[in-house]
Amino acid sequence: MNPNLVSLEGKVAIVTGAGVGMGAATAQLLAARGAKVIVSDINPATAAETVAAIRDAGGTAHAVVTNVADEREVEALLAETVATYGRLDCAVNNAAITPDTLPIHEADMAVFDKVLNVDLRSVMLCMKYEIRQLLAQGSHGSIVNIGSVSSVRPQPNNAAYVAAKHGVIGLTKTGSLEYAGRGIRVNAVLPGAIDTPMFRAALDANGFTVEQYAPALSLFNRIGKPEEVAEASAWLCSDASSYVTGHSLAVEGGYLTR
Ligand SMILES: NC(=O)c1ccc[n+]([C@@H]2O[C@H](COP(=O)([O-])OP(=O)(O)OC[C@H]3O[C@@H](n4cnc5c(N)ncnc54)[C@H](O)[C@@H]3O)[C@@H](O)[C@H]2O)c1
Repeated sequence: MNPNLVSLEGKVAIVTGAGVGMGAATAQLLAARGAKVIVSDINPATAAETVAAIRDAGGTAHAVVTNVADEREVEALLAETVATYGRLDCAVNNAAITPDTLPIHEADMAVFDKVLNVDLRSVMLCMKYEIRQLLAQGSHGSIVNIGSVSSVRPQPNNAAYVAAKHGVIGLTKTGSLEYAGRGIRVNAVLPGAIDTPMFRAALDANGFTVEQYAPALSLFNRIGKPEEVAEASAWLCSDASSYVTGHSLAVEGGYLTR
C-alpha cells in the first residue's frame, strides 16, 4: 500500500448501487485502498461483474442483491455484511435512479413517489441500519451519502430528483448531529456531471451531446470520471477525514462557483 494514498486497510465497507457507474468505481477504489467491500445493487449481474473486477485486481468483495427502497432488504443487507465480514466501518449510500423529466404542472406522481423512494427514503433506510450496526459494535464509523449538484441548485423539469437530493443533505446533517458524540461521521458527496449510464441517459432524454453540454457543466470543459468522485468518498470513509462531519463535498469541476 502506498503510504501517500488514503488507506482503508482493515475496514469493511458497503457501497450501494455498485453494479455500474460511480458505485462500481467507488467499490473498486475502496477495495484497492484495502477495504473489504460489500457490493450491493438491485441488479445481480452487474453486482457480480463489480465483484469479479475487484477480485481480479486482488481485492476482497462480496455481492449482495438489494433494493435500497425496501426496508427488509436493507436490514438483510446489513445482516449479510456482518455475517460475511463480521462488522461495518463505512458505507457509501450511492444507489439512485435517473432524474424525472417533466415540469411540475405535468408531473406523474407515481414517478415522483418512486424517485423519492429510491433516491431519498433509501438513504434514510441505509443510514438507519448502518448506524444501528455501528452503535451495536460501539465503534467509530463513516457514512457517505451521494447527493448531487441538484442538492443545492435546482434544474428545471427535475422536481422529484431535486427534492430528493436536497433531502439527502438534510439527512446527512441530521445524522452528523445525532451521532457525532458516538464517533459516527456522516457526510455527503455532491457529484456534478459524471460519465456514467445515468448521465448518458439524462443527456439522451434532453437530446444533448456531451460536447454541447460539457462547457455549461464544468469550468474544465469536460465531464468528470466516476473515479474522481470515488476519491472523495474514499477520503471521507477514511480516518484521514476524522474531523469532518455534516459536510457536503462537491466534486463538480467548479460548476457551482458560477
Ligand atoms: N452521473 C451523474 O452525472 C450524477 C450527477 C450527480 C449525482 N449523481 C448521483 O450519483 C449516484 C450514482 O449515479 P450514477 O450516475 O453512477 O448512476 P447509474 O444509474 O449509472 O448507476 C446506479 C446504480 O444504482 C443501481 N440501483 C438503481 N436503483 C436501485 C435500487 N432501488 N436499489 C439498489 N440499487 C439500485 C443501478 O442498478 C445501478 O447499478 C446517484 O446517487 C446519482 O443520483 C450522478
